[in-house]
Amino acid sequence: MCGIVGYIGFRQAADICIAGLRHLEYRGYDSAGIAVIAEDGQLDVRKVVGKLAVLGELLEQQPLIGSTSIGHTRWATHGKPSVQNSHPHLSCDGRIAVVHNGIIENYQELRTQLEAEGHTFISQTDTEVMPHLVEKYYEGDLRAAVCQAVADLQGAFAFGVICADNPGQMVAVRRFSPLVVGIGEGENYIASDMGAIRKETDKVYVIADDELALLMPDSIELTDLDLNPIQREVFVIPWPADAAEKAGHKHFMHKEIHEQPEAMHACLAGRLSDPDKSIVLEGLNMTEAEIKSLRKVVLTACGTAYNAGLVGRFIMENLARVPSEADLAAELRARDPVVLDNTLCIVISQSGETADTLVALRDMQEKGAKILSVLNVVDSSIARESDGVVYIQAGPEIGVASTKAYTLQILTLELIALHFAEVRGTASAEQLRELKAALLQMPEHARVLLEREEDVKAIAAKHYEKPNALYLGRGINLPSAMEGALKMKEISYIHAEGYSAGEMKHGPIALIEPSCFTMAIAVAGEVYDKMIGNIMEIKARSGPVIAVADDGDEQIPVTGVDAEADPDDVASQPNDMIWVPPVPELVSPITVAIPLQLLAYHMADMRGEHIDQPRNLAKTVTVE
Ligand code: M6R
Repeated sequence: MCGIVGYIGFRQAADICIAGLRHLEYRGYDSAGIAVIAEDGQLDVRKVVGKLAVLGELLEQQPLIGSTSIGHTRWATHGKPSVQNSHPHLSCDGRIAVVHNGIIENYQELRTQLEAEGHTFISQTDTEVMPHLVEKYYEGDLRAAVCQAVADLQGAFAFGVICADNPGQMVAVRRFSPLVVGIGEGENYIASDMGAIRKETDKVYVIADDELALLMPDSIELTDLDLNPIQREVFVIPWPADAAEKAGHKHFMHKEIHEQPEAMHACLAGRLSDPDKSIVLEGLNMTEAEIKSLRKVVLTACGTAYNAGLVGRFIMENLARVPSEADLAAELRARDPVVLDNTLCIVISQSGETADTLVALRDMQEKGAKILSVLNVVDSSIARESDGVVYIQAGPEIGVASTKAYTLQILTLELIALHFAEVRGTASAEQLRELKAALLQMPEHARVLLEREEDVKAIAAKHYEKPNALYLGRGINLPSAMEGALKMKEISYIHAEGYSAGEMKHGPIALIEPSCFTMAIAVAGEVYDKMIGNIMEIKARSGPVIAVADDGDEQIPVTGVDAEADPDDVASQPNDMIWVPPVPELVSPITVAIPLQLLAYHMADMRGEHIDQPRNLAKTVTVE
């Protein structure tokens, strides 16, 4: 799971590759490297362990001069992060260089065979078989050699390949791993995603599986693996060149949290404009008859997208009255689910490239389910394999911790569930109207919540040194508790558990003590009274509580506070309050999410953590 870029043209290639790699660090950042065809016709390589900044420093001391280059940022799968294992990998004669994203499944067998044929390997990676295979087949035509090499491979890959004998050429090829080719004037690019080259061009070819691109400064030839030409429409990247910059924010995560009001507008635009009008969902690709005959909905995803799926399950069942379940994508195939006729599988993913999610999609498709995806990145692998796609319209999300994608995934699922309910006649006109009006208010609610950031920051300052946290919710806000805890642990490294408040007495209550804060989600709704009871139980055990409640709620601030208690006992003080605008319970996970994102962000910042690139994580997990 890595990022690749390449440049061929007339400018200094290393600079452009480094700038592109900066936008791909979300894919991995344990080591990085770059290869340039130098003016003397040799391949020059620089590789480092660590983040891209370390590679940048090395290049300042030892610059690479040349106008053809490939670069890589790595998230280790085969072989630990080391200079030897980092990319680009070279052929024995050092004249062919390869960068790779993906996993070569039969690399061991290929390596044994190549070693027997006299090739010498220096790394533990699966990738290294590729330069040796290309070297084996190379007879002066780089593209032909890459085609032959790819025919030997099993697994997933996007490769960029250059050869010192062909300084005016670069070859790129993919199977199951993302790859785009950027179109310039007298210069061209390759990248794992469009964001990496958006500053250079807004025109790209999106490469499909088993397609190959031969790039020269003035031309691009797309072919299949038998070298038959392919005609592809130019895709125009729909966001501005600066969309992937921090725009004055300290971190991408902070910027993305603040982009939510605008992104919500974009998500609603053209779909829902008036509570009295029907919802229009382009890309849904389902007839009214299909929607009416649905027997089951299975939602599947990983991580944050799964938490959005849990909310989706709730609203789908509640509004559209279709039996619904939500599965972790990595677990779905393992339980070999029974798929009934007229089952819809809703696949949720920000990147559209998550390997576990893609595998779950294929399994459900094979079993006969129709696939509807809820995605952010346009034209991703999941998009291509789905029957219908509804985009969440969040714009690029760079921070590893998913924020705006989460609220927009829920917003999109709400639109889908409401549309289904409308078509199936399972919700009253009054309920539909109320919920549509609430969704139309969401951008404004998000704006108000962001204005309250300083209040959340003050709460963060009180609790950021605590080692443990329990996030409790019930009903539709159980996923909110899970997502709040996920945000907290992944960027602040505070151990946080998201739990059903109803389950608290069956185990987690043992954790309650002054150094463990409890986040209690207690907005108005069916489960409000029960949440009050839970807060009382926590306070009675000296646990500090932060509560999320509706503006104007006077009960929760003092719930469980014991006037007789030792005033030095912090847990006997009134609860810390996060106030949210009151909304119908069925849409409340959207408003609840925003302050929980801010709390995690500020606690992580106060602890001095690497917020946009937390340890051991990568933005897009393209390995199972
Ligand atoms: O790109 P996807 O939405 O498919 O990614 C799924 C998860 O890997 C992702 O949500 C992950 O859990 C985030 N780091 C959470 O912030």
